This record gives sequence, structure tokens and C-alpha cells, in this order.
Amino acid sequence: MKRRLYRGRDVRRAQNIAELRAMAAARLPNFCLEYLEGGADDELTLRRNRASFDAIAFTPRTLVDVSARDSGCTLFGERISMPAVIAPTGFNGLLTHEGDLALAHAAREAGIPMCQSMVSTVALERIAETGVRHWMQIYPFKDRENLAGVVRRAEAAGSEAIVVTTDVPVLGNREWDRRNYRAPMKLDLANLIDLAMRPNWWWDVLVPHGMPRFRNLGDVLPPGRDDARNAATFLSKQMDPSLNWEDVQWLRGLWPRKLIIKGILRPDDALRAKALGVDALIITNHGGRQLDSCVAPIEVLPAIRSAVGPEMTLIVDSGLRRGSDFVKARAMGADAAMSGRATLYGLAAGGKDGVTHALAILRAEIDRTLGLLGCPVLTDVSSDWVSSQGGMHHATPALQGVEC
Ligand SMILES: Cc1cc2nc3c(=O)[nH]c(=O)nc-3n(C[C@H](O)[C@H](O)[C@H](O)COP(=O)(O)O)c2cc1C
Repeated sequence: MKRRLYRGRDVRRAQNIAELRAMAAARLPNFCLEYLEGGADDELTLRRNRASFDAIAFTPRTLVDVSARDSGCTLFGERISMPAVIAPTGFNGLLTHEGDLALAHAAREAGIPMCQSMVSTVALERIAETGVRHWMQIYPFKDRENLAGVVRRAEAAGSEAIVVTTDVPVLGNREWDRRNYRAPMKLDLANLIDLAMRPNWWWDVLVPHGMPRFRNLGDVLPPGRDDARNAATFLSKQMDPSLNWEDVQWLRGLWPRKLIIKGILRPDDALRAKALGVDALIITNHGGRQLDSCVAPIEVLPAIRSAVGPEMTLIVDSGLRRGSDFVKARAMGADAAMSGRATLYGLAAGGKDGVTHALAILRAEIDRTLGLLGCPVLTDVSSDWVSSQGGMHHATPALQGVEC
């Protein structure tokens, strides 16, 4: 019999994240799937993100008692159940109704933090109220006064951290995403027909609430104009290509809690952020959605770790799809890793239950990896547990010379 992934509706039948992805693809209209999946230009970065994880090989130790295993670690001094954080992703309301709430509840139950996107469709106060460890991501829009308003809202809501995304000075070129529209925000005929064939999706997302609105741009968009069309025009005008280190300094003065920069890929930038009093760095290429032909974050992580030293909190993302990838991230020097699409596949496949199942899959895979590795305690994983010769060097010529 031919191998086939399950594509039905029962999320608990998914064996892994790839299977949740297949289920998400079956449920979502094409234009939503493309928004979720796509990368920039030729998607070289997107593919490299996966290839670089695949190329890391473990060097397991044998005859170790692994009967007591621990996948947990600490982040900013507080325990998390596994080295994972939900990555900020905008417009989750397009995948399922109030998708951000589903992510927040699932993350809280799983004992991990959630970073909410500024271009999300549920007000940040409602997400913080769930009791999840709440981080708020911001795009430093040109209008800094209004931006300060969002930061103050996060402070009042009790958010633990502000995450400044710095890798969108200009928007990446997502051609496949654009191809679905005949004019901005106007789907072409093929996509309208495809949409008509997805009653489960539109019943959940569009009926009876209408197109999701951008609830955290309320401070910057005129009242009542937080719908997708206005927001898209606004966002394209408000992305600030002049963003620089002085703005980070300004935010440091404004925000008393944890300040995190998301968009670092070089040791010199990491050192500069550290000198400005930034608390943590997210080593990322935005899941391959911004600069194409970009290094994969996991490749540059070891060099950034040696530059900033052992104390600074480093989080990596882009391309993690298996629990073993989270263990690899720890081995390469990260404190934790962010899950972007992996948990969004769960969300798109089955709402909160889908995210819960995605996180359960990742946790089981981390636990199993630790057992098979002969390193039962996650915090004991180091570069000693991966090979710098085997996988890395013959798997992809592009990765030759990368230290790990
Ligand atoms: C659909 C989608 C929307 C995203 N929206 C944002 C966003 O609003 N802000 C942000 O900082 N990053 C955003 N990202 C990037 C993620 O935070 C993260 O860096 C990326 O998804 C990690 O790669 P992965 O999807 O391979 O795990 C988005 C990613 C996706 C897939």
C-alpha cells in the first residue's frame, strides 16, 4: 500500500507536524495556505532553514540510564516545560476564529510563553488575561507616539517582554502570496472558486464575525478602520526603513521589563544589542519570508553564542518542525527556540485542539530524542552531542564550513 498522510479532521490522528500540515492544507483556502507557507523570492532561505536542521547529526551515548528524563529548562529565571515559545505571527484570525486565543490557551496549558504579533486580530489585553506568559511583538512604525501607546498597553496588561522585530525595514517579496490576487486584497477567480469550496473555513472564520480585524492597531489606525484592507495600506506606509539602533535605545528607555530584539544574524549586531541593555535576542530570518539567500539562524547561532557569552538569553527560530530540532537548537547554544509554522499548522488543522496536539507531538519528540541520545536532561545537552563532521558537511554543500 502506498504511504499517505492523513488529511481528515481528527487532529489527534496526526503522527507529526507534517501530518498537521497536510490537514491544514486540506482545510484552508489556497490564499490562506499560501500566506502561511510562503517565503520570499525563490524561497532559497525557506529551504535552507530546513536543510540546515536536517544536516545536524547527533552523536548519541549508549548504556546510559535514561529512565528519568526532563525536557524542561528556564527562561528569564522561570521554568518552562520544554525549550519552546510560540512565535509572533500576524493575522492568525485568518486560520481560525480568534486564532491567537487558541494559541494562548494551548501555550499556557503546555507551560510555555507566547509572543503575540502586533498585527494580530485579538486585543493584547484579552491574550494577556488568559494567564499565558505574554510577550508582545512590535513593528516600530513611523508614528512613534502611537507605538508608545501599544507599549504602554502591554505594560498595563502585564506582558513580560516587548519583542522588537528588526528584519522588516522593507517588506519581503512574497510573489506566490501576491499571485492569488488580481488587485490588492481582491482574490482572482480561481481563488474565489477555491474559497467557495471550503465551507468549513468560511463558516468558522467569516461567519458570523466578518473578516478578522486588527485589534492592536487601534492606537494607530483611525477608529473603525482596523479591517484588513485599511490595515494593509497602513502597514505598507508605516514600515519604517529608517529604523536603527537609536530606536532600540529609545525603546529601552520606554520599557522597563524584558526587551528582546528579533532579527539578529551576526555576532557584531548581537554585541551591539547587548551593550544597549537588550535582555535577549531572537536569531531568525523570519521563517524565510524576508531576505532570500540568507543564512539559516541555526548556522550562525554558535558564533553568536560565543560572542555574547553564556549568560545572555538566545532564542532561535526558522525551520523547526520536529522535537529533535529543539534539542539541536539547545546543542548549538540556544536557550529556547520559537515555533512559527509548526504550531500554526495545528491551529489551521483544528483550532486550539490542533495547537495542543502540535505541542504534545513536539514535547513527546523532545523527550524521545533525549532518551535515544543518552542525555536524559535537556539542560545537559551541549555541542558535545552533535557532530561537526557527519551530517553537516556532506548533506548540503551550501553549509560547508559552518561550525557546529
Ligand atoms: C504566517 C506568518 C506570519 C508571521 N507574522 C509575523 C509577525 O507579525 N511578526 C513577526 O515578528 N514575525 C512574524 N512571522 C515570523 C515568525 O515570528 C517566525 O520568525 C517564523 O515563523 C519562524 O519560522 P518557522 O515558521 O519556520 O518556524 C510570521 C511568520 C508566519 C509563518
